[in-house]
This record gives sequence, C-alpha cells and structure tokens, in this order.
Amino acid sequence: MKLTSKVLSQEQAAFLVRQRVARLATADGAGTPHAVPVCFALARASLYIALDEKPKDVPVSRLKRIRNILENPDVALVADRYAEDWNLLAFVMVRGRAELLEPGTEEHTAAVRLLRGKYHQYEAMRIEENPVIAIRPERAASWGALDEPESTGPPILDTIHGRRSVRRYLSKEVPDEAVEHVLEAARWAPSPHGRQPWRFAVLRRVETKERLAGAMGEEWRANLEMDGQSTEIVEKRLEGSRRRLLDAPVLVLICLYLEDLDTYPDAERQSGERTMAVQSLGAAAQNALLAAYDLRLDAGWMCAPLFCPEKVVEALGLDPKLVPHALLTLGYAAGDPPKRRDRKALAELVVYRD
Ligand SMILES: Cc1cc2nc3c(=O)[nH]c(=O)nc-3n(C[C@H](O)[C@H](O)[C@H](O)COP(=O)(O)O)c2cc1C
Repeated sequence: MKLTSKVLSQEQAAFLVRQRVARLATADGAGTPHAVPVCFALARASLYIALDEKPKDVPVSRLKRIRNILENPDVALVADRYAEDWNLLAFVMVRGRAELLEPGTEEHTAAVRLLRGKYHQYEAMRIEENPVIAIRPERAASWGALDEPESTGPPILDTIHGRRSVRRYLSKEVPDEAVEHVLEAARWAPSPHGRQPWRFAVLRRVETKERLAGAMGEEWRANLEMDGQSTEIVEKRLEGSRRRLLDAPVLVLICLYLEDLDTYPDAERQSGERTMAVQSLGAAAQNALLAAYDLRLDAGWMCAPLFCPEKVVEALGLDPKLVPHALLTLGYAAGDPPKRRDRKALAELVVYRD
C-alpha cells in the first residue's frame, strides 16, 4: 500500500511512521517562530496532530500553535532519531500547510481513530471534542540513516557510554525514590557465594556531611603534609574536597562487610575471599552509577574513605564491622564535566584464544 503523496519518499514515510514524537514549528503573522513537541500520525498523505488539552482548561483557540496556524498556515515538522551511535542519527523535516479539522467531519473522525490507534493514552482523552491539526506536506527533506533499525546494540550500552563522573552538582534535591532505585541496583550486583559483602550508608544532612568531611580531611591533611605539600596547596585541596562533599545532594557510602564470607585455615585463600568481596563491591558501585545515570541523575566516585575507614565509621556512628571503601556522590550535574573521556580501543585490551 502506498502510504503517502509524492512529497514524502517511502523511506521518509516509513521513518515518520516509526517515530513517537516530532517537533511542530509554526510562526505568527510577523514570522515569530514557535516550536512544540507533538504526537502525530501519518495517513493518506497528511500528518495529524491531536489537541489533547481539556476543552475547559485552555480553550484550544488560545493555544499559540493554533493562533499561529490561523494567522499563517505555513508549518514545519521535524522528527528525528538521536543515538549515542552516530551512525544511527536521522531526521525527516516536512514543510506544508496546516488546517484545522473540526469535530464531526469524516476526516476528523478518521484522524482521531488513527491517533488513538498509535497512542493508547488518547483512548482516555476526549480528543474527539477538539479540532485536529492536519498538515498537508508540500516539501520534505531528510538526512541520515533513515533505514537503519532503531539500535545496533543493546540499549544498556547507551547508558554505559553516557555515564560520566560528575564532581559539581546543582542544589536540586534528589527524590528519596530515586536514591532507593540506585540502591536497589547496587543490591543486585553479583557477589562471592551470593554473600553480598557490602552495606550502604546514605547521607543527606549538611551536619552529617560536615562530620564526614572533617574526619576524612584530618587524615588527608596529615598525608598531604607527609608528601611535603605547601600549606597553601593543602588548604586549597582540602577545601575543594570538603565543598565536593557538602555540595552533593546525596552521598552513598559503600562499605565492605566481611562477616558472612567463608573462612579458610590458610591465609592465601582467605585473602582471595577478601579480594572477591572487594571486586563485588566494585560491581555494586557500578550498578549504582549506571542506575543513577539511567534515572537522569549523575554520580561521582570518591576513594577517600578507603584511606581512613575507622575515622569514617566513628564520625558516622556506624557498625565497627563495616569497612568504608567508596563514597558515591549523587545529584544533578551543574554542567557537563570538562574532562575528555578516553578509552583504550578494544584491540588494545583483548586477545582472543579460540
Ligand atoms: C576505585 C575508583 C576510585 C575513584 N576515586 C576517585 C576519587 O577519589 N576522586 C575522583 O574525582 N574520581 C575518582 N574516581 C573516578 C575516576 O577518576 C573516573 O571514573 C575516571 O577518570 C573515568 O572517568 P569517567 O568516570 O567520567 O568515565 C574513581 C574511580 C574508581 C573506579
């Protein structure tokens, strides 16, 4: 079946049909642009956009996009695909004239049916009571990998590639629920004999963070002085680290908990057991970092507790059986981190011995 008029190629139409959202650009009589995200459906050579505002809340005639279309029916709609794999980037832009289909007409009824077929959410909305925007395409332009499947790899790779260490945060609160999701991810990490040799402490209050920063700062000061750093440098670095702890909305301290591990008569196997526990703590931390990134949060890793575990336990009043190892900062990044992130090529890291 031919989907569209001659304006859209089959590839462009097929791409549009797969997209769930597009951006609709309109302009008023003076040419002032206005763009909004829209859900849309394509059929019979037209694109259809519902107006899902409740009629009583906002009279649809007051919507800027409607006022613009009435003043100036020339519109553009762009649907695009972004992926971390830039071989998959693509967009289709359609230029055309928009008109409003009034309820009760045959085309309006068909468009509402079409939109409900594509978006089940419209079933519960009275979109049939509002006009529907119909765009009659006049020109189309496109770029990129329209025909590629939506992804060439597992979606989790996008999360893994996107995650980055963040060291400065906005003062925006992190919901408790998000912190719980992050901890839930950590809890599902693999561990030796399934013993889960880690425990987490969540710190939010300024006073608690101050206590932690004070305790770790003392140790760090002693170490920096031992390294022969100047007083000025020592003070600067300590203040930087203190600020990093205080400015992060949430801190998650990850501690090793060795009580449930197997015990062996020889030191070598015992040491292997401990190493496995540390390895699995890293897995728990990475689960947490990825879950945070997936939730549109950012995170950073601070190793400072590793160098003064007893002081951290004391400052936070934790169970003395816990061995603090890593501190994750959690929040909303204040900006994209400046550091360039490089990774060695796989070829440098892997040998195959088939
Ligand atoms: C065990 C471990 C300890 C780390 N300690 C610190 C730290 O104390 N301070 C810091 O700023 N980043 C720390 N990091 C983060 C690394 O610097 C960061 O992961 C690395 O530079 C790669 O950058 P990316 O995470 O943005 O990919 C640590 C990471 C790991 C795995």
